[in-house]
Amino acid sequence: MTVSAPATPPHVHRRFLDPLLGKAISPPPIWLMRQAGRYLPEYKATRAAAGSFLDLCYNPKLAAEVTLQPIRRYGFDAAILFSDILVVPDALGQSVSFLEGEGPRLDPIRDAGALKRLKPEAAAKTYAIVCETVARLRQDLPKETALIGFCGAPWTVATYMVGGEGSSDQAHARSFAYRDPKGFGQLIDILVETSIEYLSGQVVAGADVLQIFDSWASTLPEDEFESWVLEPTQRIVATLKKKHPGVPVIGFPRGACGLSETFLKVTGVDAISCDTAMPLRVMRSLQHHGKAVQGNFDPLLLVAGGAALDRRVDEILRTLSDKPFIFNLGHGIVPQTPPEHVAQLVERVRAWKP
Ligand code: CP3
Repeated sequence: MTVSAPATPPHVHRRFLDPLLGKAISPPPIWLMRQAGRYLPEYKATRAAAGSFLDLCYNPKLAAEVTLQPIRRYGFDAAILFSDILVVPDALGQSVSFLEGEGPRLDPIRDAGALKRLKPEAAAKTYAIVCETVARLRQDLPKETALIGFCGAPWTVATYMVGGEGSSDQAHARSFAYRDPKGFGQLIDILVETSIEYLSGQVVAGADVLQIFDSWASTLPEDEFESWVLEPTQRIVATLKKKHPGVPVIGFPRGACGLSETFLKVTGVDAISCDTAMPLRVMRSLQHHGKAVQGNFDPLLLVAGGAALDRRVDEILRTLSDKPFIFNLGHGIVPQTPPEHVAQLVERVRAWKP
């Protein structure tokens, strides 16, 4: 099923889009990575009713409901589709499961021969279910709330497909890529093509903005960063820009550090999301490219709360908010976050006066 979004009425202003179009606004828009999730009691209740985590992702009514929960509580400027980056390998036929408290498990693809198990032509059926969630959200969200669609970047998704689970060093994927760059490149090509199809479907269904999560960009030396992060992301962005010229794309190359500027220049993204370790002065220098930066409040400071939270919010806003900027965390909210600290954060950002 392809569902098309209704056009945005001309009087609706989604302030989230301003920085992405190069315009600074004060106070800046705010949303938080993993703003829907286990720190919210209402999420835990819906999650329990849905069954498994993937059952929740593939239930458009409940997935839309958990997307809306943090919007109702905090009035964020953007909602992010509730789904997961590992929906893509699942759609390709590499069945994915999430073990309670242990994270994802996949039947690993350790060499080019195993790529035969993937069925890109069958993925559309799964993508259509997720796009139904997007279409529901476009109907149910407040008109001024932007809707973010997303996928994982090919490199990060490949690390899970090759490793079969999360790891801190992505050793299996890096080894495959060194041993057989051509074979690994075939996997990346499959992911580029299917990600374009998936993201394009999300835009047609009503996503206003797209974010590409490259959570493990940090583990590659520069030549490999070019082959497996820059080049595939650039291909995805270029094709999306042709198909949907008005739809901004945010890149999140977590840990890219000294390669962030290159990422911003080469990939064609409209904004870069920065992790917690990125110095604010580097984020400042990235703003000089005329593109927006997003980030990079520490999710653990959100757990701690108190005066330290307020101080850091002010420091970030003082340094970055006069140029195109989106307030966010440097990585996702962790489950032990007290919901009232999120309220404190949002209040502090909203009260900001330069
Ligand atoms: O609110 C949102 O941000 C939207 C939903 C969203 C989820 N995952 C929900 C989720 C998004 C955008 C993601 C992205 C994602 N998923 C990434 C990239 C961002 C990042 O965090 O680095 C990655 C690497 C994944 C893969 C993934 N999903 C792992 C490793 C895990 C297990 C770890 C964990 O936190 O449990 C997940 C599960 C997951 N994805 C949960 C949620 C809310 C928790 C599962 C549950 O509720 O049982």
